[in-house]
Amino acid sequence: MSGSSHDQLFEGITAAIDEIAAADDVRLGELRTELLGRKAGRLTQVLRGLGKLDPDDRKAVGARANQIKQEIEAAIAAREAALHAASASPDGVDRSMPGRERWWGATHPVTDVIDEICDIFRELGFTRVTGPETETEDYNFTKLNIPLDHPAADEHDTFYLQGGPAVGSGAALLLRTHTSPMQARTMEAHQPPIRIVVPGLVYRRDAFDPSHAPAFEQIEGLAVDEGVSFVEFKAAIDFFVKRFFTADTAVRFRPSFFPFTEPSAEVDVQCQICRGSGCSTCKQTGFLEIMGAGMVHPAVFEHCGIDPERYTGFAFGMGPGRIAMLRHGLPDIRLLYQADMRFLDQFRGAR
Ligand code: PHE
Repeated sequence: MSGSSHDQLFEGITAAIDEIAAADDVRLGELRTELLGRKAGRLTQVLRGLGKLDPDDRKAVGARANQIKQEIEAAIAAREAALHAASASPDGVDRSMPGRERWWGATHPVTDVIDEICDIFRELGFTRVTGPETETEDYNFTKLNIPLDHPAADEHDTFYLQGGPAVGSGAALLLRTHTSPMQARTMEAHQPPIRIVVPGLVYRRDAFDPSHAPAFEQIEGLAVDEGVSFVEFKAAIDFFVKRFFTADTAVRFRPSFFPFTEPSAEVDVQCQICRGSGCSTCKQTGFLEIMGAGMVHPAVFEHCGIDPERYTGFAFGMGPGRIAMLRHGLPDIRLLYQADMRFLDQFRGAR
C-alpha cells in the first residue's frame, strides 16, 4: 500500500482535530466521541482495521495512528483547559455551570383556607383578630360555661402547663383546647356590636392519626348585637358555605350541644367528593360536618359583662385543616403537618 493511501485512512481526522481548537464544550464532547468513541470513533476504526493490513503497512499506519491519537488527546485537553479558564472568574464562580431553577415559596394549603374563610366573613363585617395560645382555665372553660368537671376540661384532653384540674382555682395555665376563649376575651374588652373571626392553633392530647393531630387550626366566629337572631346566624353560615364551596352546595343544621351556646347546632355541608350521593369520605351520608355553632348562651354574656337582656349573638368554630382535606380530597391529616415539599408543592399558586 502506498503512503498516499495511508493518508486516505486518516482523511477527515485532521479536519476534526483543527475544529477542536475552536469548539465550545458541547461540540468538544461530540468531537471526542466522533474521533475516539469506542464503537464508531474514526481513529478507533483505523486501529481496529490494522489487522487487515500487510505487516509493513501495519507498522507504519499503527505508528501514525498512535501519534494522531496523542495529538487528539492533547488538543482536547488544551481546549478543555482554555474553556475552563474562560468561564472561571476571579470570584471563583463557575459561570459555565448549568442554571438552577428558581424556587418560589408559597402559602400552606391550610393558611390559604384560613385566609379565604376570613375574607368571606370580612364581607359580612367580621374583623380578623388573634389571641393567646396559652390560656387560663377560666377563659378556656369557666367563662364559657364549661364546668371544670366537664369531660372537655379533663386532663386527658387538655395539655396543662402549670397547675391542673385538681387545683380547681381556674388559674391553672394550659394550652387552649379551642379558640372559644377569644369569645370571652373580646366580650370583656368590647361592648357590642361585635363581629370577629379568630384563626389560630389549638391543642389537644390526641395522638397523630389519619384524622387527629395534637395541634391544629380553628377559626372562631362571634357576632353580638341587639336583635341578632337565629335567622341571621343561619343566613351568615349559608352565605359562607355557598361562597367557600359552590353556590349549589346544600347546608344542614343538626341540633347539638355545647355548654356555651343555646341552642347549639352542628353544620354539615353536602359532600364535596360525591356531591351527596354517598361515598366513603362522607360515610354514605352525603354530608360532611364542618363546624359547631349556636346562639351565645346568656350565662357566657353574664360572665363577660354583657347584658343578656339587651344583646344576643351567635358563635361558631370550625377546623380549616379538615376543610382543606375536604376541598383537596386528602386522606390523612398528617400530610398537612409534615412539611414535605413534594406534597406541599402541589398547592403552589392554588389560591
Ligand atoms: N369550641 C367548639 C369546639 O372546639 C366549637 C364551637 C365554637 C361550638 C363556637 C359552638 C360555638 O368544638
